Amino acid sequence: MKAVPPTRPRTSPPIPRVWVLAVAGFIFIALGYAYLHPPQHYTSPMRVWLPAEPDRELTDEERASRVVFRQILTAPPLMSRRSKPKIAFMFLTPGTLPFEKLWEKFFEGHEGKYTIYVHASREKPEHVSPLFIGRDVHSEKVVWGTISMVDAERRLLANALGDIDNQHFVLLSDSCVPLHNFDYIYNYLMGSNLSFIDSFYDPGPHGNFRYSKNMLPEVTEADFRKGSQWFSVKRQHALLTIADSLYYTKFKLYCKPGMEDGRNCYADEHYIPTLFHMMDPNGIANWSVTHVDWSEGKWHPKAYRAKDVSYELLKNITSVDMSYHVTSDSKKVVTENPCLWNGMKRPCYLFARKFYPESINNLMNLFSNHTRYRNR
Ligand SMILES: *[C@@H]1O[C@H](CO)[C@@H](O)[C@H](O)[C@H]1NC(C)=O
Ligand SMILES: *[C@@H]1O[C@H](CO)[C@@H](O)[C@H](O)[C@H]1NC(C)=O
Ligand SMILES: *[C@@H]1O[C@H](CO)[C@@H](O)[C@H](O)[C@H]1NC(C)=O
Ligand SMILES: *[C@@H]1O[C@H](CO)[C@@H](O)[C@H](O)[C@H]1NC(C)=O
Repeated sequence: MKAVPPTRPRTSPPIPRVWVLAVAGFIFIALGYAYLHPPQHYTSPMRVWLPAEPDRELTDEERASRVVFRQILTAPPLMSRRSKPKIAFMFLTPGTLPFEKLWEKFFEGHEGKYTIYVHASREKPEHVSPLFIGRDVHSEKVVWGTISMVDAERRLLANALGDIDNQHFVLLSDSCVPLHNFDYIYNYLMGSNLSFIDSFYDPGPHGNFRYSKNMLPEVTEADFRKGSQWFSVKRQHALLTIADSLYYTKFKLYCKPGMEDGRNCYADEHYIPTLFHMMDPNGIANWSVTHVDWSEGKWHPKAYRAKDVSYELLKNITSVDMSYHVTSDSKKVVTENPCLWNGMKRPCYLFARKFYPESINNLMNLFSNHTRYRNR
């Protein structure tokens, strides 16, 4: 709004009073309108609650990072040119995606509200759905548990951020399936003022035991967090992730398998949960919208066979509305919190893993029935 007229030289004729009143009235109405009708997704322009800086003198790099992050977090999001912003669905997979046909069914009829990106780290995928053809991004090899996993996530984000219409970014694996229909997921993600990043404090062997003092002074042990890698983030958080180099480098150097004293650290389980815990703790939900079942207590989560996939299973998963964390030490401290969506209790999960490719037919059948049932 170029509302303020330049100061005029005194010699120019006085501005008629009625004009002044009209302009003032117009500004008043415009401000009132902007207040009552904030642009869509323009949630919190004044984020006064940004985390406090540490008490010590910041290093030059830290000062620079924090100023960039603060700018990213407080700037109003870039408005898309279209009335409907899009969600970027980013698939991180070794090769061919076994559930393309299911996803195709999910996306059907929602053209223009999503974009697909595929990062295939082992072999070139054979696409069976036209929606996935030509959607492969440049990829590199991913070695499980190493920083190359985070690199692939950042590569996907960088590609997806290139499209200004993408306002939310979901990371999915080849064994992930949707639990609801498209509209439900779209409204859930677009309507939330948070990113869904899993982040919790685990003092046990799978948590802080992996922390290395080499991360000091920037990352203290008290700030170290753990969480599932399967995030779903708003545009500003996607941008923050690829803008970071200082904290990324700390994790690249000091959080890896086979560290000096025989310990293992897995950057994909700690880097993003820690970064956002430090930089925007109130901007993240602290749980992931992707369900995974660790209840068997094994090294890998439970994977569902065709025979496991039933209406009851999906109903059980979609009815969970409490997020659950348990520490890996002997105390096994359980923390449960309601999954709050804009302050209201809602089901926690939009996606689930891990499903064996053999379960596709069951899932396709159930998908139509089940998602219709849950179509609220
Ligand atoms: C996420 O957890 C942090 C503490 O680690 C807390 O400060 C923050 O409020 C939590 N976020 C939400 C949305 O509750
Ligand atoms: C669903 O939940 C109920 C109640 O917790 C449980 O008894 C049942 O075994 C679950 N079914 C499946 C298929 O997970
Ligand atoms: C998100 O919305 C809830 C409920 O309206 C509010 O309490 C919270 O402060 C908001 N968070 C952010 C980061 O804007
Ligand atoms: C889905 O619904 C159709 C029609 O209501 C029914 O014939 C089919 O058995 C259902 N599939 C499953 C897996 O429940």
